[in-house]
Amino acid sequence: MTISTYAERIVILTGAGLSAESGLGTFRDKDGLWTRYDLNEVATPEGFARNPVLVHEFYNARRANCLDARPNAAHDALARLQHSRPSHVTLITQNVDDLLERAGAPAVIHMHGQLTRALCAACGYRWNAPRAMDHAAPCPACNAPATRPDIVWFGEMPYHMERIDTALQAADLFVAIGTSGNVYPAAGFVQEAAAHGAQTLELNLEPSATVSLFDAARFGRASRIVADWVAEILGAPPPR
Ligand code: APR
Repeated sequence: MTISTYAERIVILTGAGLSAESGLGTFRDKDGLWTRYDLNEVATPEGFARNPVLVHEFYNARRANCLDARPNAAHDALARLQHSRPSHVTLITQNVDDLLERAGAPAVIHMHGQLTRALCAACGYRWNAPRAMDHAAPCPACNAPATRPDIVWFGEMPYHMERIDTALQAADLFVAIGTSGNVYPAAGFVQEAAAHGAQTLELNLEPSATVSLFDAARFGRASRIVADWVAEILGAPPPR
């Protein structure tokens, strides 16, 4: 099925594949993060309660990688697209890096949190995380030694779900980029958008677990296929 190159309201979901060419790696590819770390130890509230030092070390290393990385052509293209039609392009990311912001994207919805933010587990205060967080450092607001990375762990509710559902229900086009379609609720967004009449497109290095749910799919490196797709969208005249 061919996807129309003109869409009034576009909702984009990105995953780790968007930042892979910036050197940040992915989770489930052959040398991905979850092949090297036990996610139950570093990405669950229970793991943090058992060993906050290990969890801070894990996110301090990822935060350092993120701060040293640079946006790639796919981040730049998505930032250009959102800049061109800010009220018609919703950018949702599962990624916790800030490469879309550093590429100039004006409004990124981080449903799994952000490496650049810290959260107090005692009072809920949020602030900009230092390059390396220390689990013993007190919360700047309530002074409790309860600081954690502002990351949504497995078993926790993703952020901004109401805003995301509203966007999916109004979308004309839903595009998933660089995600394996293994983790819900994000993996179910394609069905929610399609149920409300959106066309759906997957842009990925290889078919995801949910590729059969999409109207169309293109495969290749995000730095190339996302830039090509955005060029099509930006070049497409609105229907007469
Ligand atoms: N260009 C495009 N796609 C790529 C590239 C690339 N250069 N490199 C890898 N990919 C694709 C892979 O084929 C895979 O389908 O990116 C996807 C990465 O999948 P995952 O590693 O599972 O990452 P993601 O889908 O973002 O994981 C979702 O799971 O662990 C949790 O919270 C974590 O946000 C994460 C969520």
